[in-house]
Amino acid sequence: MTAFADTLISWFEDHKRDLPWRGEADPYKIWVSEIILQQTRVQQGWDYYLRFLDNFPTVKALAEAEEDRVLKVWQGLGYYSRARNMHAAAREIMAEHQGRFPNEYDKILSLKGIGKYTAAAIASIAFGLPYPAVDGNVIRIISRIFGVCEDVTQPAVVKQITEICEAQIDRRQPGLFNQAAMDFGATHCTPRNPLCSECPFKSECYALSNNLVDILPIKKKKAELKHRYFYYTMYLSDNQTIIEKRTGMDIWRNMYQFPLVETDGESTLEKPFFATREVLSHQVIHAEFFVRNVEKLPELSQNQQIIVFDDIVNYPMPKVMTEFLKKIM
Ligand code: ADE
Repeated sequence: MTAFADTLISWFEDHKRDLPWRGEADPYKIWVSEIILQQTRVQQGWDYYLRFLDNFPTVKALAEAEEDRVLKVWQGLGYYSRARNMHAAAREIMAEHQGRFPNEYDKILSLKGIGKYTAAAIASIAFGLPYPAVDGNVIRIISRIFGVCEDVTQPAVVKQITEICEAQIDRRQPGLFNQAAMDFGATHCTPRNPLCSECPFKSECYALSNNLVDILPIKKKKAELKHRYFYYTMYLSDNQTIIEKRTGMDIWRNMYQFPLVETDGESTLEKPFFATREVLSHQVIHAEFFVRNVEKLPELSQNQQIIVFDDIVNYPMPKVMTEFLKKIM
């Protein structure tokens, strides 16, 4: 057993949570608890676990139930595909495994609704097989203690964390190791305010010694698409018009455009002459164009100039501008 596993399991002996499925050996019941806990907090899951087993105490009972009844018992827990998949998997176990829960990782993994995490949890807790169950808690503790500083939303980084767990797992008691890791993440090495000052890993934790506890694990969010609303006005007077150069740290830097007002998207009273949209990597530009024939061009602001209208084609312009010009030229 590695020093890491030893320390983790010692911590668990003293701090493990009392849960209704702790010490359970029946793979069916372990399966039910793991499916409920996938998207439900322990506090809320507890009653549902007891109620579910009251209604469906065995794989056979679940397989023989009407789907409506299974969904009714699940009602209020959300993510109802979990219940439908369990029902289908129970029927699969009756039809293809003689009603006995399969005792090999690959066969468990092939059941409906069971992914790598759940298959590893069942295989290790019910059958003592050395598969690490890598959930969000485990990703957090491994990333912090072992210093995995890459984006954990990337499958390759989860694989790297899984490999660290495979090297660390206690092969004689993998179920205990996995549950210890999950409880340690859920109650001690928490996302916010982890208990570092009383942590059994405080002398070796990479995040703690590098002041990265708040930073790890790194989860890169997909930048949300930002919507921006650009209102352009083309002034025309005597075949002359005004253009302005874009400056500053923004899109289309140093390109030219008709005078622009950016708004937060409230609709204008006037219908635009032309409207278009351009989707960039992190933003969507909603562009509207207004045309003003005037006696005299308005005063120039900074970065603006008067040009002969037909010369506009000589200036670099973003696509929304060229689209508009195609419409009117
Ligand atoms: N979260 C999901 N499964 C768990 C388990 N078996 N023990 C503790 N926390 C869990």
